[in-house]
Amino acid sequence: MKQFLSVHNAGNMDSLIAEAMQVKQHPMANSELGRGKTLGLLFLNPSLRTRMSTQRAAYNLGMNVMVLNLDKDSWQIEFEDGAVMNSIKSEHIKEAAAVISQYCDVIGIRCFPGLVDREKDYTEQVLNSFIKYSTKPIISLESATRHPLQSFADMISIAETKTIARPKVVLTWAPHIKALPQAVPNSFAEWAIASGADVTIAQPEGYELETNFSNGATIEYDQAKALAGADYVYVKNWSSYNDYGAMPEVKGDWLLTAEKMALTNNARIMHCLPVRRNVELLDEMIDGPNSIIQLQAGNRVVAAQTVLQKILQSI
Ligand code: CP
Repeated sequence: MKQFLSVHNAGNMDSLIAEAMQVKQHPMANSELGRGKTLGLLFLNPSLRTRMSTQRAAYNLGMNVMVLNLDKDSWQIEFEDGAVMNSIKSEHIKEAAAVISQYCDVIGIRCFPGLVDREKDYTEQVLNSFIKYSTKPIISLESATRHPLQSFADMISIAETKTIARPKVVLTWAPHIKALPQAVPNSFAEWAIASGADVTIAQPEGYELETNFSNGATIEYDQAKALAGADYVYVKNWSSYNDYGAMPEVKGDWLLTAEKMALTNNARIMHCLPVRRNVELLDEMIDGPNSIIQLQAGNRVVAAQTVLQKILQSI
């Protein structure tokens, strides 16, 4: 594996998940693989799980880790080629990526979308600039349009808990107080579809995802209809793709309740975290017996370690 940006770098999903299961069973089996190698983790946005799970994964492989909060602790970076740099941005990505590449053997980057300029976000200007000017393998720690390490952990969690070969997986929109990116739902949809699951996306009018991500899923505007017979319910808020970054008015109540869960096949409840309790998902759902949310969070280490292992084996 030369980079990890999306499901398109995953190769055969069954093989990747089998490798992840090995990593989970024997986390220290390759504790010398990364000896003398350094992972750089660059954050332009906040993180708890991605930051800590990827560090833990690297330590399990014997790697050194350097973490830089690019948004707070470093120079502001200019990403436009040919820019006249007379603003507060003091360092160009050309120099920054080339310098970081001399210090690190593998580089992870978190770069959220601005949710203002759809074209800029969906062309992944920040991530692609790092890829262009870095000489080392790049791992996405969540970009403007995707969160592949989260989705890989989600697929491991489903593989570990499923009782039928092709479960019905429902990704359902949920309420929130502010506009959130489409990265997690985009990514979850493309990974779940690629895994061969029977995927339904339930969303209010105006919240359709970009079709490259949702192609292959059943689209439903009636949440109850979508939930019927579900084996997994992935709860997540996202803002509008069509009216980019907006939160169009929503008709009806999209909060998951016990009454709605009764329509499912005793479905497992999933969320990537962080979650706003009793806004996006009720306490009783997060803490209840059907929740596999903590399993997902734990599997973030497994996903990151599997990816790092495959990259280390290729450099
Ligand atoms: N799920 C996830 O990526 O969590 P963090 O934003 O805390 O890293």
